[in-house]
Amino acid sequence: MRILGVLAFLAFVGTCFGAGGGGVVSSSSSRGSLTDTEGTRRLQEGKPLLLTCDSNATEHHAIWMKDGEEVTESDHIKLFPNSSLYIASSSKDDLGNYTCKFSEDLEAKVFYVVELSLHKQLPKSTTVLENDKMSLTCQVQGDPIPTVQWLKDGELLQDIINSSRLALSENEHHVPNATLLIKPVMKTDDGNYICLISQYTIQWNTTTDVRVKDIYAALWPFLGIVAEVVLLCTIIFIYEKRRIKPNFDDSDTDQIAEQKNQVENNKEAEIRQRK
Ligand SMILES: *[C@@H]1O[C@H](CO)[C@@H](O)[C@H](O)[C@H]1NC(C)=O
Ligand SMILES: *[C@@H]1O[C@H](CO)[C@@H](O)[C@H](O)[C@H]1NC(C)=O
Ligand SMILES: *[C@@H]1O[C@H](CO)[C@@H](O)[C@H](O)[C@H]1NC(C)=O
Ligand SMILES: *[C@@H]1O[C@H](CO)[C@@H](O)[C@H](O)[C@H]1NC(C)=O
Ligand SMILES: *[C@@H]1O[C@H](CO)[C@@H](O)[C@H](O)[C@H]1NC(C)=O
Ligand SMILES: *[C@@H]1O[C@H](CO)[C@@H](O)[C@H](O)[C@H]1NC(C)=O
Repeated sequence: MRILGVLAFLAFVGTCFGAGGGGVVSSSSSRGSLTDTEGTRRLQEGKPLLLTCDSNATEHHAIWMKDGEEVTESDHIKLFPNSSLYIASSSKDDLGNYTCKFSEDLEAKVFYVVELSLHKQLPKSTTVLENDKMSLTCQVQGDPIPTVQWLKDGELLQDIINSSRLALSENEHHVPNATLLIKPVMKTDDGNYICLISQYTIQWNTTTDVRVKDIYAALWPFLGIVAEVVLLCTIIFIYEKRRIKPNFDDSDTDQIAEQKNQVENNKEAEIRQRK
């Protein structure tokens, strides 16, 4: 019975290895997150927002405009003498384009205050089967709506992949082109895919390495399991057969040969007795 236990264990291990063969396998990873630039600031609701027109200005009142209208100080917005605009607890209403300047003839400085978040990076690697379909989604959200472009091995995807196999659509946050669908997948689709996000001067990307496996790659582990099961059944069958009826085997062990002789002797003895 112990040998059966070992065989069952081996079959289990084999099945586990085999199961890894097919379907889409992705390994997740967490890498860096979005960062602001000097000109584009991400608004985080409830958090403070500080825009500084000129860090050298100490006592020059700057003129601040938001979306074309002059900003006046209030309970919500503070304008400091050092040319800073400060909002202690920002809200969605504060999204917009801010400009500041010291006088009419000087060039204005622009700050884009936006909402932008990437809810999830693309997986580090993505495995797909040839002839299957592949879908990658850039889980980005923003206000105003950010721009998304896809690159494959550094080149714009639409320029490389035949448009009959390629479809771009918006993600669940209504960002256009953020979902990429390739169907059917070909061996040549193997490569590095980048989702490039832009929002004014913020540029961010998330990337995944796509590996295309041929259809048989999924079949081999399955065939392996079948072969294993057949082999195990054969071994168990032979083992059980030997154990249950050793007397009818052409056995090579002395013990069984002895037993056989004994049986024959007994038979002869019986026959002799009957006589
Ligand atoms: C401007 O003044 C405010 C309030 O005094 C301060 O919090 C802020 O850091 C100052 N900004 C600069 C650039 O010095
Ligand atoms: C601030 O002053 C320093 C030194 O005077 C100068 O190098 C720098 O460019 C100035 N910064 C701005 C934003 O004008
Ligand atoms: C902010 O500026 C951008 C670029 O100049 C412009 O496209 C956009 O409409 C502006 N947004 C608002 C709310 O005015
Ligand atoms: C795209 O597919 C069409 C038909 O399937 C084919 O005629 C064309 O040459 C392909 N273009 C490229 C760039 O592969
Ligand atoms: C989405 O991608 C298509 C194909 O490249 C492009 O023509 C279109 O302008 C893009 N849409 C947006 C909103 O970027
Ligand atoms: C993607 O971002 C990394 C840093 O996060 C940068 O080094 C790389 O150049 C970016 N790639 C593209 C295509 O912008």
